[in-house]
Amino acid sequence: MWQTKNTGNEYTTKSKGEKTMKVIYTKSYAELSEKAAELIAAQVQGKAESVLGLATGSTPIGTYEKLIEMNKAGKVDFSKVTSINLDEYVGLTGDHDQSYRYFMNDKLFNHVNINKENTNVPNGVAADIEAECKRYDALIEEKGGIDLQLLGIGHNGHIGFNEPCDIFEKNTHRVQLGETTIQANARFFGSMDEVPKEAVTMGIQAIMMAKKVLLIANGPDKKDIIEKAVNGPVTPQVPASILQFHPDVTVICCFE
Ligand code: PGA
Repeated sequence: MWQTKNTGNEYTTKSKGEKTMKVIYTKSYAELSEKAAELIAAQVQGKAESVLGLATGSTPIGTYEKLIEMNKAGKVDFSKVTSINLDEYVGLTGDHDQSYRYFMNDKLFNHVNINKENTNVPNGVAADIEAECKRYDALIEEKGGIDLQLLGIGHNGHIGFNEPCDIFEKNTHRVQLGETTIQANARFFGSMDEVPKEAVTMGIQAIMMAKKVLLIANGPDKKDIIEKAVNGPVTPQVPASILQFHPDVTVICCFE
């Protein structure tokens, strides 16, 4: 459908509404990570008080490593940044080594000059998960929304933990994880029984209201789902496909 090829490895996909998705194909994970880190750093350089929507998973690790390097080299200053993470497992405390709070501290926050009080991850052990979801949406609104949202993508097209579904879930919500997601996560836990079956995830609305979206995907196994997300029909069965309606999306991928 509506694809125009640019020079080099950059492509622009035009939708009928003239909105564009920029897709950058990189040759290595290192290049992907560097380009993604540069875009995030540029956001913070342009607006010191940026609200960054951040993601977990294996893909962003290299991006965070680059950002740590840049921070240590004095190229990017996180002291005024607020971060809002996409999701958290229900039932894991922040000190559990598989919780997303732990991941973010370990992979980024402990190594840069961000004020931890300005870092936000849903509380997966809140007594009232529904109230926690409402608190999270109110927090996003109070911060004025997200300036740049970093996203990974699941093999089933999930963004955050918005799993394939009959509708696009608007708000932060509790979600039953899909079978493929549970299986993909099992590698991090001792046994299947320990793998969380539920999570709290930001909804599609906050993601779509982010001013910029940066989607990263690494590995040949992500090629098909990126093709569906970028060029396929927009459907809640491929949650990332909704990004075709977002005015400012950059996709950086490496399928090598
Ligand atoms: P991954 O996960 O980066 O570990 O592939 C991405 C995701 O499921 O969002």
